Amino acid sequence: MQEGLRVLFVEDEPLVRQATAQSLELAGFSVLALPSAEAAMPHLAADFPGVLVTDVRLSGASGLDLLHHCRNAAPGVPVILVTGHGDITMAVQAMREGAYDFIEKPFGADRLTDTVRRALERRALELENRALRRELAGPAGSTRIIGRSPAIEQVRALVANVAPTDVPVMINGETGTGKELVARSLHALSTRHDGPFIALNCGAVPEAIFESEMFGHEAGAFTGAGKRRIGKLEHASGGTLFLDEIESMPLALQVKLLRVLQEGMLERLGSNTSIPIDVRIVAAAKGDMEALVAQGAFRQDLYYRLNVVTIPLPPLRERREDIVSLFEHFMLVAAVRYQRPVPLLAEAQRQALMQRPWPGNVRELRNAADRLVLGVPEGGAAAAAADDGMPLKERMERYERALIADTLARTGGAVSQAADLLQVGKATLYEKIKRYGL
Ligand SMILES: Nc1ncnc2c1ncn2[C@@H]1O[C@H](COP(=O)(O)OP(=O)(O)OP(=O)(O)O)[C@@H](O)[C@H]1O
Ligand SMILES: [Mg+2]
Repeated sequence: MQEGLRVLFVEDEPLVRQATAQSLELAGFSVLALPSAEAAMPHLAADFPGVLVTDVRLSGASGLDLLHHCRNAAPGVPVILVTGHGDITMAVQAMREGAYDFIEKPFGADRLTDTVRRALERRALELENRALRRELAGPAGSTRIIGRSPAIEQVRALVANVAPTDVPVMINGETGTGKELVARSLHALSTRHDGPFIALNCGAVPEAIFESEMFGHEAGAFTGAGKRRIGKLEHASGGTLFLDEIESMPLALQVKLLRVLQEGMLERLGSNTSIPIDVRIVAAAKGDMEALVAQGAFRQDLYYRLNVVTIPLPPLRERREDIVSLFEHFMLVAAVRYQRPVPLLAEAQRQALMQRPWPGNVRELRNAADRLVLGVPEGGAAAAAADDGMPLKERMERYERALIADTLARTGGAVSQAADLLQVGKATLYEKIKRYGL
């Protein structure tokens, strides 16, 4: 996550500078150590990919001056101040003015690296957030397939391979696994991307109007057919027709569709004129198509025609390694959409997410991420009921833990800021964080 990020470290005392820079490097950070605020200022531009750690007392401009400069020149860069012992009042004031955190001298290397790591995470999120804003504004913004599990890697590879060809693709997966997203990426990566992407949900169209939805009709073709109507197949010409819930397509329509696909021509209802169409078909199904074919509920010839390539989408519970990256992606998208800050997930939250069953798959996960960004509690009443019969002390602890976790998420893990908000001492808060394993 922190690849390419760096720590700008300012300290005028050469020995301290060297030693601290070294311990940061040992912790795996890339460090630029400088002797003065003046030397640091030129590096602080809006896109500076990292964080600033500065001693407050410097010869020349002070660390506070540098903080103010940074707030103006590079507002997204977290600033960590290193203060002398007993400078708490000043440090709290600096936090109000936008410092990310402060560290009191003398400090252990762990304290510094932990704080820097959290600040870098925050910076990485913010930079990612910005990149995402740009991407969402662009044309292919909504078709990115997220996930690093072998199953998803394979899906991405298949999509990239077959998208530029015109072969029909069948996508199979439970509800919310991303079938429509895959269909849209197939279209976006195809040579037809400037053509239309038309979706038809075969499960949602009443059988009586299915035929005219699909093939269109001429005026007066049947009772109630007032005006000429262009069907979805014709609409999709030059582009992609996404046939969702293909398993619900009535058998009579299956025959007709097969003929159109074989001939590349269609006739609107009530017309004898054949119109050439050039459509790429992508179909999606939830159930076991082979079984439907075996039962005679789906035509075998059409099935073979449609599933030249099959892309299976496994349920989320079979690729749990994707859960956190998907969740973080959806939090970013929601934060951009609702203009909210992006919460950082605590380790306990990640674990909890990975363990949930997610019967609604990625869609359910996406809704949960939206709720977290909006600050809507997860299953509030249910959680309270589950507390019934629990001793008061335990209930209070649960509540306290949730409150601290939530505050930390809001401050992006900055303990000092959280302590400020909760109006407790930093030491007390640290002790509780440790006790609750946050
Ligand atoms: N791998 C993924 N990366 C990013 N977003 C995803 C991914 N998989 C699913 N999504 C998102 O999750 C939501 C549900 O996905 P989608 O609508 O494609 O599922 P579906 O399989 O068509 O569901 P249904 O069967 O209920 O129609 C969408 O918002 C989609 O963008
Ligand atoms: Mg769908």
